[in-house]
Amino acid sequence: MKKIALLGCGNLVSAIILGFHSQNKNSSYQFYCYTPSGTKAKRLAEEVGGIFVSEISELQEMDVYVFGFKPQNYRNAVIQYKDVISPGATVWSLLAGIPMQSLERDFPENGIIRIMPNTPSLKNLGVSLFIKNAKVSRENQNDFEKIMGSVSSLYPMKNDEQLDQIMGVSASGPALVFEFIKVLASIIENAGFDGVESEKIVVEMFKGSMSLVENKTSIQELQNSVTSRGGVTFEALKSLESQNFQSVMEAAIQAAYQRAISMREELS
Ligand SMILES: NC(=O)c1ccc[n+]([C@@H]2O[C@H](COP(=O)([O-])OP(=O)(O)OC[C@H]3O[C@@H](n4cnc5c(N)ncnc54)[C@H](OP(=O)(O)O)[C@@H]3O)[C@@H](O)[C@H]2O)c1
Repeated sequence: MKKIALLGCGNLVSAIILGFHSQNKNSSYQFYCYTPSGTKAKRLAEEVGGIFVSEISELQEMDVYVFGFKPQNYRNAVIQYKDVISPGATVWSLLAGIPMQSLERDFPENGIIRIMPNTPSLKNLGVSLFIKNAKVSRENQNDFEKIMGSVSSLYPMKNDEQLDQIMGVSASGPALVFEFIKVLASIIENAGFDGVESEKIVVEMFKGSMSLVENKTSIQELQNSVTSRGGVTFEALKSLESQNFQSVMEAAIQAAYQRAISMREELS
């Protein structure tokens, strides 16, 4: 059995491990769950048949250490874990804003994979961006592909820069989609419709639209098929364009990127 230490068992780690467990009930991985308060670690360990760990000293000799705490905890975590993580082990860091350079500086003897997943991993529909250093063995790459690849599509990035630019779309994206749903639902509600039903209409519209995307026609063709020149949809799209929807989205993704850069400076 390979030993995987989960350092942090919050939203993201739980989504990944629950998603993996739902597809792989008898895997060759044993998950060791640790959090400072113990609450979320205990719960996740129970849910996936893992081992709850109450003391960091019990985390010796693991094959993989998954950093799933907040980037704000990184400096403390280096102090806590640097003597626990043995040279042969691999670190998988899920932390936003902590670049490969800092991880390599703090864990110079370890293979490191910096991964930027998203929460749809819970439903095995995630997207993960990643970069790895030269110390990652073929065997560890296989473990990474088995676990992360079973909950998400994997996209190698050229470097931290590229990962930090794209994660505003892929990792923050679910929150942006939920925002879009909320805005559209509020418009329906303002037209005098019930709030819960308004959200339902929008969610069903999203699901239906995505099912058309799955049929593999191009997005442009799909858009053309609901837009006739001079019709109502045409006017709605024209209005979005004249108010520069593209710039609004670009500014949001740029803000996420700037935050990743400032976190790099403040926290790593
Ligand atoms: N959420 C997302 O969609 C998403 C997407 C991509 C990347 N990320 C990254 O994923 C990481 C976790 O995010 P999250 O949303 O899952 O956070 P979260 O739900 O707040 O969970 C954080 C977990 O870290 C634990 N923790 C705090 N300090 C620790 C330490 N020193 N050692 C071990 N565990 C520690 C906390 O324990 P307690 O329960 O005891 O407080 C908690 O279980 C972040 O670095 C974030 O940048 C998140």
